[in-house]
Amino acid sequence: MDAVVYQIYPRSLRDTSGDGVGDLGGVRRQLDHLAWLGVDALWLSPIFPSPMADHGYDVADYCDVDPVFGTLEELDLLVAEAHERGLKLLLDWVPNHSSDAHPWFVAARSSRDDPKRDWYLWVEGSPDQAPNDWKAAFPPGPAWTWDEGTGAWYYHRYTPQQPDLNWNNPEVEAAMHDTLRFWLDRGVDGFRMDVVHQIGKDMSLVSNPDTAVDGPSDPERNHELVRGIRTVIDAYEGDRVAVGEAYILDVAQVARYVDPAARELHLSFNFLPLWFPWTAADWRKHLDEVLRVYGDLGAWPTWVLGSHDIPRIRTRLGRDDAARSAAVLLLTLRGTVFLYAGDELGLQDAVVPPELVQDPAAFRDGCRAPIPWEPGPDHGWTSATPWLPWPPEADERNAAVLRDDPASILYLVRRTLAARKASPALREGAMALLPEGTGAGATDVVAWERTAGDDRRVVVVSFVAEPRGWDAPEGSGWVVEVSSATEEREGKPFDGLLESHEAVVLRPG
Ligand code: NOJ
Repeated sequence: MDAVVYQIYPRSLRDTSGDGVGDLGGVRRQLDHLAWLGVDALWLSPIFPSPMADHGYDVADYCDVDPVFGTLEELDLLVAEAHERGLKLLLDWVPNHSSDAHPWFVAARSSRDDPKRDWYLWVEGSPDQAPNDWKAAFPPGPAWTWDEGTGAWYYHRYTPQQPDLNWNNPEVEAAMHDTLRFWLDRGVDGFRMDVVHQIGKDMSLVSNPDTAVDGPSDPERNHELVRGIRTVIDAYEGDRVAVGEAYILDVAQVARYVDPAARELHLSFNFLPLWFPWTAADWRKHLDEVLRVYGDLGAWPTWVLGSHDIPRIRTRLGRDDAARSAAVLLLTLRGTVFLYAGDELGLQDAVVPPELVQDPAAFRDGCRAPIPWEPGPDHGWTSATPWLPWPPEADERNAAVLRDDPASILYLVRRTLAARKASPALREGAMALLPEGTGAGATDVVAWERTAGDDRRVVVVSFVAEPRGWDAPEGSGWVVEVSSATEEREGKPFDGLLESHEAVVLRPG
């Protein structure tokens, strides 16, 4: 639960087969590097057979590996090799929708009488008139597609190639539970569950032009279905984990999914920090709310600053010092941390010209650019021309070059991970915001204390480019354990000053 999970977008990690697309061989090759970095677990975005209309989030077989990534045997090897290094492995389960190429949907659309017909969501009518005004999340357009063969509309929250499954049919629920068991039996440690807050639906077709944002969800039914999923996971030994992508921008509603008393998800992403501005006031307000709401429930939060669905943190913040500070902030909060592959290198989004766009939602290719491991021309990939262009400055911002530079963001992430691992307070301790200072500019800084028994750490983050002063709590003779600005401050007494966008971890002297 106190883990740091490294999110891998397998197409972009590393190619070992020469086809321009990353693969399981590439993940296996990076295991030593990831163990060196100090993360605890890996989450692979979908690796299942797929026509790739949404790059794997359109699953054609929940119980196999797409040949572009490798084989089932290779996945087994990856699980074993990860475990040998003490790394857990999570897969990305996509319960809300399958691919239209999944045999279930092929059967369902073959005839109105097919036994699988009711596994998806159909509405009969006329081809000129969609059942209502519901919109898909992407691409822009209706959430309904007319099926010529059987003369009916089917519902899809995402692209027409991703028909939604009908979880109100107990056969669907049972079949999807079996897909979880398939992987749990093979030893995977758990799942990230794609848009798992949308599987319980209200299909009464009430007009709602905002469905592109909300989907036609039925929250109570959804919670019930998630409890069913948890029962499957709980039947297995070991620390198996269910991480929900409950993409709801409301702290209390997300927290309800991880209320320990309800036995639903173990963890659920909190995406709000991806959307509010990088200011002390916004962070203070958000941290205050999370600590209160999760504290009341006795629940465990999560933290995310990057993923394959949003421009990278370095691109969003637009400056290196702030991206370094963000890394220290992320890794010192109370909760499970999700670190998006490449953010430890301080990568920026690639610039993707219109003719090379791959993403059905059109805006997510930049953060999915291939990761450069070495200087050019192929950056450690077997192929020189990967499926998307390289991110900027790939000759300088790559793992090999940054591993030679103790001042790099890569070392900063590694040092912060080591500090987290070594301190029960940072790993699993309580967290309390420290009061705002009173001097000029004090409101540009947020500080919090982590405690576990006698172990204490204080984290101080400045959100502005000008230097700021900050008075540490008296009595401890605080020493800088980690500084996002320069490793030269580390091991020395804290002088009460923060450089531009600096974050520090302090330990009692
Ligand atoms: C959320 C995933 O993170 C995103 O990449 C995907 O397009 C949608 N769910 C649909 O599966």
